[in-house]
Formats: sequence, C-alpha cells, structure tokens
Amino acid sequence: MTHLCKETLVAVVNGQLPGPAIEVREGDTVAINVINKSRYNITIHWHGVKQRLNCWADGVPMITQCPILPNHSMTYRFNVTGQEGTLWWHSHVPSLRATVHGALIIRPRHGAASYPFVKPHREIPVIVGDWWQMDLVQLNKELKNGTYEYNATVAATINGKLGDVHNCSGKIEDGYVLEVEPGKTYLLRIINAALTSEYYFKIAGHRFTVVAADANYVNPYTTDVIAIAPGETVDALLVADASPAGSYYMVAQDIQPPITDYTEPKLIARGTVRYQSSNNGGEDEAPSSSDVPMAPEMPGLHDRMVSFYFHGNLTSQHRRSPVPTHVDDRLFVTLSAGSVCRHGQSCKRRGNIQESIILVTMNDVSFLLPTAAAAAPLLESHYYYGQNKTATGGGVDLHTLPDRPRKKFNFTDSALIHHGPKEERLEPTERAATARRFRHGATVEVVFQSTAVMQSHYNPMHLHGHDMFVLAQGLGNYDAARDVARYNVVDPPVKNTVLVPSLGWAAVWFVADNPGVWYLHCHYEYHASMGMATVFIVDDGTTADSTLPPPPADLPKCGHNNNLTPNELNPHVGKSDVSYINIV
Ligand code: C2O
Repeated sequence: MTHLCKETLVAVVNGQLPGPAIEVREGDTVAINVINKSRYNITIHWHGVKQRLNCWADGVPMITQCPILPNHSMTYRFNVTGQEGTLWWHSHVPSLRATVHGALIIRPRHGAASYPFVKPHREIPVIVGDWWQMDLVQLNKELKNGTYEYNATVAATINGKLGDVHNCSGKIEDGYVLEVEPGKTYLLRIINAALTSEYYFKIAGHRFTVVAADANYVNPYTTDVIAIAPGETVDALLVADASPAGSYYMVAQDIQPPITDYTEPKLIARGTVRYQSSNNGGEDEAPSSSDVPMAPEMPGLHDRMVSFYFHGNLTSQHRRSPVPTHVDDRLFVTLSAGSVCRHGQSCKRRGNIQESIILVTMNDVSFLLPTAAAAAPLLESHYYYGQNKTATGGGVDLHTLPDRPRKKFNFTDSALIHHGPKEERLEPTERAATARRFRHGATVEVVFQSTAVMQSHYNPMHLHGHDMFVLAQGLGNYDAARDVARYNVVDPPVKNTVLVPSLGWAAVWFVADNPGVWYLHCHYEYHASMGMATVFIVDDGTTADSTLPPPPADLPKCGHNNNLTPNELNPHVGKSDVSYINIV
C-alpha cells in the first residue's frame, strides 16, 4: 500500500484493510478458514469471544496453538452464545495485527428488534487504527530485544484511511466518508485496533449515545466524545440531527503523555459525515470548494481526565451473569517497567540500551515463553500432562505469578517518572513464563496498579476467555481500606479489556469458569511484546460440561521452522509451584 508517498509491504486479509467484517447472530456456530498466503506465521484471535470449552480456538501462538505456517491453513470453529455486540478479530502474532484485523459483529438471535435501544437505520463499523511504515515483524523483534529506537507510526486511520489532515507533495490522503440521511439513527460500532494509542473520537456538531462496550450492553450514556483504548470496542448511536446543508469532520486523535513526561508523535485521522439530501442524489455529489466541513473541538492533547470520566461513567444493563457475592482469590498486580542485562554481566540503567533490555512487568516479572514451549503450545502441555493426567514426557516449566508485588514502594510517586537513583534501584527485573492457576468456578479479584516507573503509560489489560466486572478505578495508589467501599457491585460494566489509568488502578472480578490456558496481557502492543503478560490456567470442573474437550483434529502441529521460538530464559527466577505442568 502507498500512503504519504511511501510504498509499504503489508499483510492483509482478502486484500482489504480493515479486513472483512464477520457478521453473525447470537447462538451461531462460526467456521472460518484461514489460508495463510503471507510470508509470516499467523494465528487469528477472536477478541472477546469467550470460547467456552473451546480454548483450542483462541488463536494465541504457542499458548493455545502452533501457528499456521506460510502456505498452510486452518479452520477455526467456535460459537457465539450469550454474547451480543461488537467484537473483533486480529492476528495474535505480535504487531501484525496492525493490518490483520476486522470487526466481528454479533447481532441478537431475533434481529435488530431486540436491541435494548432504538432500532438503527444502519450499522457502521468504525475501526480506528494506525499506519506504520516499517516491517511489523521486525518491529516486534526490536521491541523484544530492546533495540527499538524510534517510533515509526506516522498516522492514525479511520477504516483504513488517514484523511485530509495528511498530505505529501500536495497529494491529500483519502478520508473515510459516512453518508447519512437527515433525522436517521446510526449505530457506530467503534473498535480501537491500533497498536499503541488510546484515542478520543468526535464528530463535529453531533453527540453520541453509548449503548454497549466490549459486546456488553451499558445504560445509555450521552456524550460528545468517546475515549477508546487498544482492544476496546464502543457501540454508540449517532442521530443525524445537524443541519443537512453542512458537513462534519469526524476525528480520531491519540491521547498524549503529560507534557513534562516525554513526547510521542501526534497521531490523527480525519473523516467526514455528509448528509444526503433528497434533491442532490447524495453519494455522487462532489463537495464544492466552499463546502468546508465543521471541525470538532477535541479535548486537550494531554488531557487524560476525559477518558477517566468516560470509562467511569459506564454501567451495565441486561447483564447475562450476576455480579459475584464473594471472592475466592485475590491478586494485586503492579504494572511496571525494569531492565535485564543483555549479556548477563552487571549493567547500568535502562536508558543505556547497549547493555540492558528494557522490559515491562506484572508483579516484577516480565513474561517470556519457556524455551520448551517452542515444541508444543502451553495448552497442549496442560491438556496432556497437566493436573491429574498420567501421561509423561512433555510439559514445560512455568512460574507462579506472585499474588503481590515483591517490590513495595510508593507506586505512583512522581519522582520515579524521571530516571534517577530512586528509580534505578527498582529497575533490575527478571524474565520468566508466569502463570496462575484457578479452581474451576473460583471468583477472582484482580487489582491492577500502574506505577510511575512506567512513566505515564496507561494499560488496557485484556483477559482471554472471560469477561471482567469492572468494579472501580482510581488515581494514585489503591487502598483496600478506602477503595473497596467504592466498588460498584450493582451495575458494573462488563469488559474483556479494562483500562488501567496512568498512575492509577482498576479493580475487577471475574469467574474462572472456562477451563483452559488463557492469555492475560496489555493490549498496548509494545507492552505485550516487552512482557506485560501472564497466563491464567483454569482447571476443569467435575462434570463433562465443565471439562475442556480434546483438541480438534486439524489443529496445526509445530514445525521446526517456527520463527516464534522464544529466546533466553532468565535464570534468576526460582522453580515453579505450578508444577503439574512441569514434567520435563
Ligand atoms: Cu485482542 Cu490477546 O488480544
């Protein structure tokens, strides 16, 4: 594809960017043939699909399956039961999802008449993405090895288009155009598929009524701005009630770190809403030169509070499962940064990338797949050699994700934002394959705490195989004595991706009732590549309908030319007590 005068080789699905939307009804069984004609290993993840008793179709390389090699294919089969709204699909091979993604729309079984809101005239996917001018697999390698030095994202996109804020040698980039009829209501299914940024989304002269998030209905919430982090989806009604004589810019603009922190390139995409009028024939009408669209007034470039309140205002309605009334397991997880030495010898601070690799961590451990996982995905090891299984001779070492951080400090101390002795002491870290195992049916509380060591980064944490009840969020350090009282246990929003605010925290509950090996990771792509991830292993229940069935016969086998082979494992971490998977 060529944008901004530069041709870039990109992997796409069916020749489209975004890829084709998959449209299904609640309760459907879906079968998708993935034929890999690219030069990369590929898996596809169905983001937000619960995959009940079907972890095999979750599409995470070396966690749930061996990747589909070039010139190979695989059929994913899953059902979408008990879920309605907007989800999406994307490659789960790191970074490729920038161009290998599309919408996954689940309508009610009995059609649009059963929406808990006014039936829209049309439904429009709006995918916010980003445009890179580099090889994305190379990008991921650099992130993992700590050699990535510059930011090559050049622009945001709306449905694959950069829009007329961008031009090169006088050639203006195409923008996405939404044609509307006066007075009609549209359902926008907004997806943030970008690798790295949270976005504000606005349309001049219009307001939105948010009706769902992450394929869960919310109480209607009216706003003129939508905040959406990587991995999140928002369904919003748009009424075409502005003057039909005008046209209106729609803008997606990334949220920048505080001005005192560090600078990132400003990412923006611009599209247009145009009204069809009965006498001009609508779509074919070229805009005249006097037809300058009205521009929305965006929140301040560094304003994160608009997002904080947007997320805080979401409440659920028509929830399918009750809010738990007790908690079995509690985890307090710090999201932080650190470094390991490149060659094992003592090294200086993370700023010096010659000697050290910068990583990000959950409870002070940065996730790295075990070397043995190159031979078989974790899910296979778990299935064949896991708890109460008699087979031997396969298996891998995993390490328990600590329940709490080992490093205790004032997590949101702003003195840590800039390098200095205080911050350097916190840096040395370790790399390991961490996991946490849960009894079938356990209710789990996870409090995610961002730290100032990560500067002002925010972390959209995505859990596979389960939705989470988002009970509360806050700025500063979480304090159970004070904050539990603020939990919304009446109508908490239900999400597969929870945005943990910068220098703040978010508390969730989920019920571990879906047996398998589920990836939990930050959907900010740099963070996932740099180790902000772990796996949650959910045990089988006692009945056949709570037990993971055997793998489908056509699940790919791992080949020797597997380019996902993980590199060195840090020797500093102690042996696992998730030993049931530890067989070798
Ligand atoms: Cu949308 Cu594990 O990702």
